[in-house]
Amino acid sequence: MNTLSDSIYLIGFMGTGKSTVGAKLSEKLGATLIEMDQVIVEQHDMEISDIFDEYGENYFRRLETGLLKELQGKKNLVVSTGGGVVLRDENIALMRENGYVVYLTAKPEIIYERVKDNKERPLLNENMSVEYIEEMLSDRKEYYRSAAHIKVSTNNKSIDEIVEEICERLEDYEK
Ligand code: S3P
Repeated sequence: MNTLSDSIYLIGFMGTGKSTVGAKLSEKLGATLIEMDQVIVEQHDMEISDIFDEYGENYFRRLETGLLKELQGKKNLVVSTGGGVVLRDENIALMRENGYVVYLTAKPEIIYERVKDNKERPLLNENMSVEYIEEMLSDRKEYYRSAAHIKVSTNNKSIDEIVEEICERLEDYEK
């Protein structure tokens, strides 16, 4: 059974606000923020898109699993994951064993607005459209659902409101 002193893993599609919410949430809880993508970039001294280009998506997924293993057993972390972390069952198990998994959602149109000018997401770079986001979301929805302890919509909410909602819902979850 997890407790609130365990870590919190933020999952969700690209552009659902994991990084922004993670920063605020970790500040509020006095927890250590781990930005998985950023740690991987620093550890390998390569941008995510270069890792995808040179070694492929599977290799990147293995790096994600390796990092989740490194974080295992550490308390009081807020971990902002990459949007595809749920694609491996092993990752879902690692996150659920070590804390609460919070699934952030947003409508495809809102995601599109948030990510459309960013060139650092290899899986969207050549397919930047609401339709493609919808397609990827529907392929991934079940993975996110099966990983999550709680699901929080970020549509039309401020970051403070989202953080507040996560804290309340996790407290309820613990009761
Ligand atoms: C990915 C999401 C990205 C990054 C990589 C793959 C995905 O992270 O890990 O480009 O498969 O959804 P963000 O969700 O932080 O954009």
